[in-house]
Amino acid sequence: MKKLVITSVLALALASTLAAGVVAGKCMGCHGKSFEKKAMGRSAIVAEMTHANIAVALKGYKDGSYGGPMKGLMKGQVARYSDADLDAFSHTIGK
Ligand code: HEC
Repeated sequence: MKKLVITSVLALALASTLAAGVVAGKCMGCHGKSFEKKAMGRSAIVAEMTHANIAVALKGYKDGSYGGPMKGLMKGQVARYSDADLDAFSHTIGK
């Protein structure tokens, strides 16, 4: 019984980790480990953007109101997240 409870707690913890928020690892291939690169030679250096501008960019890619020629690509990166997740994540990168 005790073992079952522990297993369920672990499973729940894992499930909420997976569901929670933006996974930066998915961005690194293009933007660099600390968002220090111009993604595909195109984007601004996100590490140098402000939290507020990053939030505008991420939510704008999602609703189509922001971006350059490659905005469709970024839409695919952020469309699955809620605005609240994108807001929260924007405070963890940039300056
Ligand atoms: C496949 C490559 C790729 C991945 C993966 C990717 N990006 Fe991007 N990102 C780009 C490109 C290219 C642009 C410029 C798009 C445009 O034309 O507006 C961009 C633009 C941005 C911008 C706005 C910068 C500007 O120029 O205004 C932000 C912020 C950003 N990405 C954050 C992220 C985050 C956060 C993730 C992960 C959830 C992510 N990106 C994943 C390629 C990528």
